[in-house]
Amino acid sequence: MLVLGIETSCDETAVGVVEDRLTLRANVIASQTELHAPFGGVVPEVAARAHLDQLLPTIDTALVQGGVHLSDIDAIAVTHGPGLVGALLVGVSAAKGLALAHDVPLLGVNHLRAHVEVAQLEFGDLDPPLVALVVSGGHTSIVVMDADGTFRQLGSTIDDAAGEAFDKIARFIGLPFPGGPEIDKLARDGDPTAFDFPRAMLHDGTYDLSLSGLKTAVIRDLRRMEAEGVEPDLADVAASFQEAIVDVQLIKTLRAAADEGLDQVVLAGGVAANSRLRARFTAECESNGQRLIVPSIPLCTDNGAMVAASGANLLAAGVTADVDLDVDPSLALTG
Ligand code: KG4
Ligand code: ZN
Repeated sequence: MLVLGIETSCDETAVGVVEDRLTLRANVIASQTELHAPFGGVVPEVAARAHLDQLLPTIDTALVQGGVHLSDIDAIAVTHGPGLVGALLVGVSAAKGLALAHDVPLLGVNHLRAHVEVAQLEFGDLDPPLVALVVSGGHTSIVVMDADGTFRQLGSTIDDAAGEAFDKIARFIGLPFPGGPEIDKLARDGDPTAFDFPRAMLHDGTYDLSLSGLKTAVIRDLRRMEAEGVEPDLADVAASFQEAIVDVQLIKTLRAAADEGLDQVVLAGGVAANSRLRARFTAECESNGQRLIVPSIPLCTDNGAMVAASGANLLAAGVTADVDLDVDPSLALTG
């Protein structure tokens, strides 16, 4: 069974092809980063227009990469939420057209679940129960995937998403958009203990996180140093900021795993590409005897393969969508 997956929820026009749920055949991304960079963030109108321009050529490239024809595809999967409404509409409309024209099932994929489920392409079928940290530009939550494959949210950010915090601090210190990978790079030359930035809500007994106080603390310290005529070492700032984000996510996620009695941990979403997050989780899970499942970096950031993989799971479960499939910009992970 071949499933084509279309991802247009934010600023990547991406198409993947997955065979028999577990085998990656193609994964092609037309990135819009350069279009949005001058604005320092994703401009929804610009994103939707670029998806319109890029989607059909990206589908063609993915079919060539996968060595398949459109007529070989057994189902069309598409992200229908969460995301930017105009951007989502481009993908969903195209997917409906393709499914109708080729008389194959349409599959409506939840972008956040797809971030978790993509791991099956590299680790084989997930074997729940497990705990997952889902960290992206618009989303940060700690969830449990129960033995029956359903998701249960334990906690989430009460303000900024992790990626949003990375992007905002990067912008403040003059790094290009998107800021997460830039902070990651800069932090490698910095001392993570140079600044003692706050780790909010660590001991509040919940699995919720808060990152806006951290962001404010970084900005306040930088402004204070500027006022004092002190030149900050930006690598130290980046490393200390990154360490604070990683600390809270690591501690809360592993506490959730322990409280739920789970010994498998999945990292998912764009921020799971962060080298320090990966290294800290790897070390901690190893010493706890927990199995860490973290996809390779191209499968952490937005991609079409994750949509095809999640869609293939829906197809296997017989959950297909109708032609009236709607976009849902605020679709919950558990929705
Ligand atoms: O999952 P994703 O590709 O798109 C959304 O669904 O939002 O996540 C994008 C986010 C951006 O905020 C980006 O800065 C962040 O992931 N990101 C990183 C890294 N690579 C991407 N954050 C920290 N370190 C990285 N290496
Ligand atoms: Zn994403």
